[in-house]
Amino acid sequence: PVGVLTLYICVHYNRSSVIQLPHILIIGVRKGGTRALIEMLSLHSSVAAAQNEVHFFDWESHFQRGLPWYLSQMPYAFPDQLTVEKTPAYFTSSKVPKRIHQMNPDIKLLLILRDPTERVLSDYTQVFYNRLQKHKRYQPIESVLVKDGEINLGYKALNRSLYYVHMQNWLQYFPLESIHIVDGDELIRDPLPEMKKVERFLKLEPQINASNFYFNKTKGFYCLRDHGRERCLHDSKGRAHPHVAPAILQKLYQFFHEPNKKFFELVGRTFNWK
Ligand SMILES: *[C@@H]1O[C@H](CO)[C@@H](O)[C@H](O)[C@H]1NC(C)=O
Ligand SMILES: *[C@@H]1O[C@H](CO)[C@@H](O)[C@H](O)[C@H]1NC(C)=O
Ligand SMILES: *[C@@H]1O[C@H](CO)[C@@H](O)[C@H](O)[C@H]1NC(C)=O
Repeated sequence: PVGVLTLYICVHYNRSSVIQLPHILIIGVRKGGTRALIEMLSLHSSVAAAQNEVHFFDWESHFQRGLPWYLSQMPYAFPDQLTVEKTPAYFTSSKVPKRIHQMNPDIKLLLILRDPTERVLSDYTQVFYNRLQKHKRYQPIESVLVKDGEINLGYKALNRSLYYVHMQNWLQYFPLESIHIVDGDELIRDPLPEMKKVERFLKLEPQINASNFYFNKTKGFYCLRDHGRERCLHDSKGRAHPHVAPAILQKLYQFFHEPNKKFFELVGRTFNWK
C-alpha cells in the first residue's frame, strides 16, 4: 500500500512528472510472456510502464487518432525514466514496423518468444477459455490444427508462431541491434539472468536482483517482490494446455523445425526449442 500511495502523490503533486512517447516497446509475441516481462521491467526505478495494451500501431481506429492520442495513453513518468508500452499483436502485424520506425527509428524493441509449438497451444487455450466463458461453441484443438491430414496453415495461431516470417518484416526497418529477444521459456524458469540481459540492452543501471524474485511452490512459478510488496501474475497465465494426441503434437514439432531454423539464421542465435 505504501508503494501505491507514493505513486499517487507523485502523479498528482509532483510538478516535474512528464508524459512521454515510449522509448521502449514490447512488441510480442502473443502468449510469449509479455505481461511477465513488463511487470519485471517495472521493478526497475528508471522504467515507467503503460498499464494497458494500447494497440496504437495495429488498430486503424487508434492509429488514425495520431501521436497526440498515443501520448495521452502513456503513464506519468519522471523525466529521467524510460517509458515502455506493450502490445503483443505488434509483432505479427505487417504494417506495424514501418509505423513505429516513422515515430522513432532509434526506439528499443523487446521481443519475448517461447517454443512455437507451446505458443500455439497456449494461444488456442486462451481462445478456448474465452469462448467457454461466453458459452460459445469452440472447436477441438485437433480440428483447427489439422486439415485433411496436414498441418492447417490457415490457422492464425499457427502463423503467429512462424517467427521468421514476421521477423523479416521488422528487419526491413530496424537493425537487429535494436531488437532484443527475451527467451520466454527461460524467463519463467529463471527470471533474473534474462532480466539482467534486458537491463544491459536498455543501458539501465543494474538494479534488478535476486531479492526481487521468490519461487512460489504452489504455483510452480516465480513471483515478484517490489519494495517489500509481493505479487504473482494472474492465474490465467499458468493455465494447463489441452491434451493433444501425441501424433499431432509430434507433427507440430516437426512442422516448426524448418521455420525455427530459418529464424535462428535470421537472428544469429539459437533457442532451446524442441
Ligand atoms: C502469415 O502472416 C503473414 C503476416 O501477416 C502473412 O504475410 C502470410 O501470408 C501469412 N501466411 C499464411 C500461410 O497465412
Ligand atoms: C537488491 O535490490 C534491493 C532494492 O533495489 C536492494 O535494497 C538490495 O540491497 C539489493 N540486494 C542486493 C543483494 O544487492
Ligand atoms: C502462492 O501461490 C498460491 C496459489 O496461487 C497463492 O494462493 C499464494 O498466495 C501464493 N503465495 C505467495 C507467498 O505468493
